[in-house]
Amino acid sequence: MKIATLSQPGGLDQLKIIDGPDPGEPGPGELRVRIHANSLNFHDYAVVAGAIPTSDGRIPMADGAGVVEAVGANVQEFSVGDHVVSTFFPQWENGPAPIDNFSTTPGDGIDGFAREQVVAPASGFTHAPKGFSHTEAATLTTAGLTAWRALIVNGGLKAGDTVLTLGTGGVSIFALQFAKMMGAQVISTSSSDEKLERLSAMGADHTINYKTTPNWGQRVQELTGGRGVDHVIEVGGPGTLPESIDAVSIGGHIALIGVLTGSAGDVPTAKLMAKQARLQGLIVGSRFHQQEMIRAIEANGLRPVIDRSFSLENIAEAFRFEESGKHFGKICLEF
Ligand SMILES: NC(=O)c1ccc[n+]([C@@H]2O[C@H](COP(=O)([O-])OP(=O)(O)OC[C@H]3O[C@@H](n4cnc5c(N)ncnc54)[C@H](OP(=O)(O)O)[C@@H]3O)[C@@H](O)[C@H]2O)c1
Repeated sequence: MKIATLSQPGGLDQLKIIDGPDPGEPGPGELRVRIHANSLNFHDYAVVAGAIPTSDGRIPMADGAGVVEAVGANVQEFSVGDHVVSTFFPQWENGPAPIDNFSTTPGDGIDGFAREQVVAPASGFTHAPKGFSHTEAATLTTAGLTAWRALIVNGGLKAGDTVLTLGTGGVSIFALQFAKMMGAQVISTSSSDEKLERLSAMGADHTINYKTTPNWGQRVQELTGGRGVDHVIEVGGPGTLPESIDAVSIGGHIALIGVLTGSAGDVPTAKLMAKQARLQGLIVGSRFHQQEMIRAIEANGLRPVIDRSFSLENIAEAFRFEESGKHFGKICLEF
């Protein structure tokens, strides 16, 4: 079977395709899955680009979707032929978050899904949404579930709330879709006017170009009649957080998700205190959250926005495209 591996010290030129051994039969509690798709996330990019150190020969990619080929003893939940999608934390099934790092995350602390077959514990998968292609299903593990947990699990989003999304990457586009699905108003930003038009076409109620309107927090206040938004999908980090604090309503919620502008910096803490806003960090979600999200997706007919797909052999090219920032929504691998 074909496998993509990453040699140290990392970098897109260190990705190679090798012929790997057959993974064998699943043991008790395990599945053998024929993987047909991955989706790319900023985290996967940081690993393959060498910004996050990993083991030599690591198989990248946190998100994998495919078909169950064989079922080990004691597995009740899955049958041969089922379409499945991987989970971000294979050991976090339910309850409060038990882990604050990526040591158990496929494609970072353990081998990921850039390979044609895998044998792994059944608890590291859920059923894929009915009617989804493998490529669509592969978008859910990281980006979909992060947006879902930020808005629905942690945010308690209600119809009529206002949500602010930043940029047009995977997490933000899912957040726009979930927010509209739940009956919320959405304000979306992007660096590109062309992408802003696409956001409007998807249902964004207001859009802001964050390059030409650098004080977009103030613009959000104007658009909401001075009230601010109930939820911010904060994917930028230190470079955007001060504007997000300006944009949030008194008592609102900022879901601290991303590091697109860096991983540390100055925060106007007094302003955050005065806003009495809740700043809550999160890393993706549990298997149970994923099952609830998939139930909602099936009930509402939501479909992921996929910009384009590449073959497994073209994994480096796919990451170069992500690096260019030209994408809208998700980039995938299909094989
Ligand atoms: N905590 C978690 O659980 C979790 C899970 C998933 C992702 N993340 C993090 O969330 C961030 C986004 O991830 P992703 O996979 O969605 O990334 P992505 O698909 O690569 O999104 C990149 C997009 O972000 C936008 N962007 C870049 N710089 C920006 C800025 N200064 N202000 C506003 N938007 C900006 C750009 O949109 P435009 O081209 O429209 O400007 C760009 O196309 C990353 O930092 C990632 O590590 C965290």
